[in-house]
Amino acid sequence: MRADPPIDSARLWADVMALARITDPAQPYTRRSFSPLFIEGRAWLRRRFEEAGLAVRPDAGGNLIGRLAGSDPALGTIMLGSHSDTVPAGGRFDGIAGVIAALEAVRSLGSERLRHPVEVVDFLAEEPSDYGLSCVGSRAMSGRLEAGTLSYTNANGERLADAIDRIGGAVARLGEARRNDIAGYFELHIEQGVVLESRRIDFGVVTAIVSIARLEIVFEGAADHAGTTPMDLRRDAGLAAARTIAWVAERAAVLVSAGRGYFVATAGLLEIAPNAINVVPGRARVVFDIRAEDHALATEFFAEIDRASSEIAAATRVERSRCALLSNATPAACDPRLRALLAQSAEHLGYSTIPLASGAGHDAAFVSRIAPSAMLFVPCRGGKSHAPEEWAEPDALAAGAAVLREAVRRFDAQD
Ligand code: GLV
Ligand code: MN
Ligand code: MN
Repeated sequence: MRADPPIDSARLWADVMALARITDPAQPYTRRSFSPLFIEGRAWLRRRFEEAGLAVRPDAGGNLIGRLAGSDPALGTIMLGSHSDTVPAGGRFDGIAGVIAALEAVRSLGSERLRHPVEVVDFLAEEPSDYGLSCVGSRAMSGRLEAGTLSYTNANGERLADAIDRIGGAVARLGEARRNDIAGYFELHIEQGVVLESRRIDFGVVTAIVSIARLEIVFEGAADHAGTTPMDLRRDAGLAAARTIAWVAERAAVLVSAGRGYFVATAGLLEIAPNAINVVPGRARVVFDIRAEDHALATEFFAEIDRASSEIAAATRVERSRCALLSNATPAACDPRLRALLAQSAEHLGYSTIPLASGAGHDAAFVSRIAPSAMLFVPCRGGKSHAPEEWAEPDALAAGAAVLREAVRRFDAQD
């Protein structure tokens, strides 16, 4: 792929790599939201935004925003962005590519003045945070950061509300983060799948983002001596969790073939206590991540899991003390006009595109509730993501930034 000058491919790549170096050295690439490394990454980003001539501010929801003024004060904002936080031992491109490509697209406008103001946003905590909630910043910007979730706590007992304040947000004024001036939102992201690579297509233009729910189940049994407690007298909470995990996976495999679109369920978070080799687990907590194109199918599945997990609890003589949704976001459609702008911009620059649905969650899913939004997917090697091997080619990122810039120009000229 060739990059359309004057996108500065070397500068873009150097910035992605510089942010990647701000990682936990013992577990590359880790920059968890709200952590000291995240704050360090944000300080670095702020400097890069300022060097690009953007006016930088955090909003009340803890998003970092760099703004370039437009020539017509009556026009809404063209917003570009993604996220700089990572999963534990994640990659260098998930989210980061979108923030830096957005910065490069704006930076490369040079002295060109647009009519609309343009903002580059690093959304707070797109990945599931240590407080059990993802997309914290884009929820705040779309008025969907619910009061109940603000009291979710991390393992140290810090409330999400206090964490948002700690990194520069202002929960007391959270309503100010809600925007009604966004004319259009564009997000570049690595595909996190193999379709583009395997079909040798330059870009994917996202049609819709699946629904994502996080369902928490807690079993309480009795911690007992692993050597002396007979099998038939145990109240093993770990066993109840294991049976529930197996049940969910088997049932999900059936629902995949229900002909109701994309469907996946994962038990990615499991905690047992006391988590000791010679103790029967007295408590188990599992959080399921459930994604569906058809949100009604996910809703039916929640009811099934509720029933099955309480039957499993009874069969294993433990109590199921909690079965609750931590979050439940409905599918989000991308805006047809912005999708067309991305496809036309890519075509104009000589690149191929296909429409693609997203099985991964993105800040665009929340921004799309308040403004027309669209996403551009860039190929990534082997579809690998949420892992240190994650890789996108420098030329592909530069070409993606060029498409973003072209789409912004076209939007600016039309609206
Ligand atoms: C975001 O990375 C997700 O979990 O899809
Ligand atoms: Mn991710
Ligand atoms: Mn991401």
